[in-house]
Amino acid sequence: INLKLVVQPLLDWYDDHRRILPWREEATPYRVWVSEIMLQQTRVEAVKPYFERFVGALPTIEHLANLNEDALMKLWEGLGYYNRVRNMQKAARVIIEKYNGKMPGDYKQLLELPGIGSYTAGAIASIAFQIPVPAVDGNVLRVISRLTADESDIMKQSVRKDMENKLLQVMPQKRAGDFNQALMELGAMVCIPNGMAKCEMCPWYHYCEARKQGIVMELPKKQPK
Ligand code: ADE
Repeated sequence: INLKLVVQPLLDWYDDHRRILPWREEATPYRVWVSEIMLQQTRVEAVKPYFERFVGALPTIEHLANLNEDALMKLWEGLGYYNRVRNMQKAARVIIEKYNGKMPGDYKQLLELPGIGSYTAGAIASIAFQIPVPAVDGNVLRVISRLTADESDIMKQSVRKDMENKLLQVMPQKRAGDFNQALMELGAMVCIPNGMAKCEMCPWYHYCEARKQGIVMELPKKQPK
């Protein structure tokens, strides 16, 4: 299947089905960063109040950089994985020192910051800066594995890397952030894990190799065959 063919149907679907989310309507680099870190561990609906509390108390990167440890831990309470917010504060301090308090708009510079891996760097670069780079999380791995009936083990780093390269070739140059969020949204709302996929709702119904082959439930593969 030619991935180029499926980009526009996905963007059209997203235009009709996108949820209104606080970090989508005002997608500043800082807000996108905070939301993506929170969303790595917690569902969208549960993140919303934590997100509002956090960016309400710390409206800028400078506020985050300057907060004392106890207050920082209190603000993150309920979310767990406290190292994530500690890394965010480390990164905030680097951004103050090295980038004059402005989040860098460059994928490689983002990757160098504490706590920012390829997924988060891709999400910030594409959503906040419209840079055409992929943001491959578990949702995206599942959706694309099914679309292409790819039985590769998604736990392998090389498989994720291949997926990033494939997507990089077809990224829409003008709507990179929407494209990445549409993939995540499709994985969250339609192309759900195990037997829960709602294929009849899918903008890729006619393209999906796994559906045609009757193997949606079996994908993605998580162990070596
Ligand atoms: N999960 C991770 N990032 C997301 C985003 N930007 N929108 C919706 N769900 C997400």
